[in-house]
Amino acid sequence: MVILLLGPPGSGKGTQAKVLVERLGIPQLSTGDMLRAAVKDQTTLGVKAQSFMKKGELVPDNLVIGLIEERVVQKDCQKGFILDGFPRNVAQADMLETVLSKTQKKIDRVIALQVPEAELVKRLTGRRTCRQCGTGYHVDFQPPRAEGVCDRCNGELFQRNDDVAEVIVDRLRVYNDSTAPLLKYYQDKGALRAIDGTGSMTQITATIIGYLEK
Ligand code: AP5
Repeated sequence: MVILLLGPPGSGKGTQAKVLVERLGIPQLSTGDMLRAAVKDQTTLGVKAQSFMKKGELVPDNLVIGLIEERVVQKDCQKGFILDGFPRNVAQADMLETVLSKTQKKIDRVIALQVPEAELVKRLTGRRTCRQCGTGYHVDFQPPRAEGVCDRCNGELFQRNDDVAEVIVDRLRVYNDSTAPLLKYYQDKGALRAIDGTGSMTQITATIIGYLEK
């Protein structure tokens, strides 16, 4: 099954994708995570991508599509995967169709998480991530047992450099300008399901699973 999670920054795509990985046994393909790893390792891609990411802008399509092209042919993607943060605009969505058709796959479900903007800002400014294992937290909504320390591996928690107020404004603008048009794109294909992304994380997971099982 190929599942696409759409939604603005902070809507819970990554949080829900991680739960679905456990439940469905298919991997999460997050272009944001792949790009951050490339920046950390200072690969050629990472060096090119970092200035865009720091400003909350989209990394150019030609750089991102290669990541997905290479990833979807790997063995663990044979039974399907969860796309988180890709595609981000209509050009990427068209490219995705081409890539999937080469592997005889198609998008089975598109889930659009809906969360009001004020809530998104609260979620993003309070997000913390483990430097070691990548587990996500929120200082108020999903706090670790000990401040700044990962419950799972005792790793150090950090704040993403694009989770600051001034960059968040730009990320939300980019979402509205470039990514939100995908809602109509997938609605026209009859594949879109809007899901309320507010409320408890487990309740949102239950709604998503209910939809996937239909
Ligand atoms: P990316 O990493 O994809 O960031 P994003 O889309 O902005 O999404 P986020 O990771 O910020 O949010 P999320 O929806 O996953 O929320 P989360 O679950 O973490 O992209 C980063 C950058 O990389 C982009 O700006 C761009 O530069 C570049 N990039 C990436 N992909 C690209 C592409 N395809 N093309 C071009 N450029 C690309 O939740 C957020 C917080 O809220 C957490 O703290 C969580 O604990 C909390 N939370 C989650 N659910 C709930 C809930 N129900 N109630 C309360 N709190 C909750």
